[in-house]
Order: sequence, then C-alpha cells, then structure tokens
Amino acid sequence: MGVIHKPLELLEDNFKKPTGFSGRLVGHLMTVQHRTLTDWTIEQMGIADGDDILDIGCGSGMALGLMAARNATGTLTGIDYSPVMVGLAGKRNAATIRAGRMTVQHGDAMNLPFEEASFDQVTAIETFYFWPDAMRGLKQAHRVLRPGGQMVVTLEMSREASGKPSLVQRYFGRRFTERSAREGLRIVSGADLTGMLTEAGFIDARFVAEPTRSLGWVCALARKP
Ligand SMILES: C[S@@+](CC[C@H](N)C(=O)[O-])C[C@H]1O[C@@H](n2cnc3c(N)ncnc32)[C@H](O)[C@@H]1O
Repeated sequence: MGVIHKPLELLEDNFKKPTGFSGRLVGHLMTVQHRTLTDWTIEQMGIADGDDILDIGCGSGMALGLMAARNATGTLTGIDYSPVMVGLAGKRNAATIRAGRMTVQHGDAMNLPFEEASFDQVTAIETFYFWPDAMRGLKQAHRVLRPGGQMVVTLEMSREASGKPSLVQRYFGRRFTERSAREGLRIVSGADLTGMLTEAGFIDARFVAEPTRSLGWVCALARKP
C-alpha cells in the first residue's frame, strides 16, 4: 500500500502548497478538477460589471480568468502563498495582466497585503481547508472588503456530502477525514461556515450545497455591513 500512499501524500501536500515540479503538475490538474466547481461558484456569487475582486489561494489562476471574462471594467487580484502558483496564474492570465486589469501576487491569507475596503468581492475556492487560523482569514477578508461587499467560500469536500459516493470518492473522503483529524485540515458543514462568517462580522450569511457532487460541494456567501 506504501506504493500508492506516497504518491497520494505528495498529491495532497501539493494541493495544500504546490511546490516545485510536482506543484506545477498539480496546478494544471486543479485547473481541470475545479472547473465545474468554479463555474458554479461564479453563478452563485453574481458578478456586477465593475466589481473589484480578490481571489485568495488563487492557485493556477483559472477562477481569475473566468471572472475577468464576466467583468469588463472591474479589476481582478489573485494572491497565493505558493510562488509556483503565482507563476502559473501570471502566465495563464498574461494578456489581462498586460491590459492592467489583473494583478497576481505572493502573499498569505493570514495577513492580506491590501488596504482596508479595497474590494467588492473576495473569493476563497478550495483553499479554506488549509488556513491555519480560519477566523483570522475570514476577518482579514472582512477588513479588505468594502461595506456591502461579498465574501464567498467554496469547498468541494464538506460535511454536506450525501447520496452514493463512488468508490474513489469514498476512498478520498476517508483519507481526507483521517488527515483532518491528524493535521487539522478543516472539513466543515455549510452551517459551520455561515456561523464562522457571522462571527467574523459578516451579515446575511447563507450557503448553497450540492451534496451529491464530488464530496459535497458547498458555497457560503455573506456581506460586510
Ligand atoms: C487546492 S488549491 C486551489 C486553487 C484554486 N483556488 C482552485 O480552485 O483551483 C489551494 C490553494 O490555496 C493556496 N493556499 C493555501 N493556504 C494558503 C494561505 N494561507 N495563503 C495563501 N494561499 C494559500 C495553495 O497554495 C493552493 O494554491
């Protein structure tokens, strides 16, 4: 079993912080794996033309590109603590960056390097599991949002999962649940997320879920008063 566990551990570590050559491969894999989840997130959030949007844990920059395509006059900002991902996201979105509508930079969700009230929307897609201090990350997002701005947290693996998972989903579900117990990887429900968003100072927190998609898609949304 070690033969399969080692590569899986490498894969999981690279989802948390993509590094080196394997990190670049995982970056491309994420682009494929997270495409429908990202489209679904964008549907839930609703983008108004002119919105200034920050994507935390932007990975290889696919969400940034999709959001830019729906937002002709607003700005897009991506941040990731993996230099490999910052590089990939920059390459993927080179034309939009050259046009002055997007920036991608290195930084940590725990200490966002932006002024207060800089954005209309902040997204965190498939990254919340890994934040060492979830409340701190949500409060940081709250700080950089403008009044009335929206926070969006999406996960493809949550306590909302139901239905009949495939064998592969069951296997990964068990691995991730075991890892969460061992390493504090955060697997939450929609109600957990809305509770945390409210505690961080947001209002009108709500969530939508697709319990049978992957290991329980959930998207939580809330506004800064
Ligand atoms: C599973 S990937 C998801 C990437 C992208 N959002 C997507 O959906 O394809 C998680 C990303 O979050 C980033 N990340 C994790 N913790 C972070 C933190 N504390 N600050 C900034 N980025 C973080 C990782 O480097 C990685 O690129």
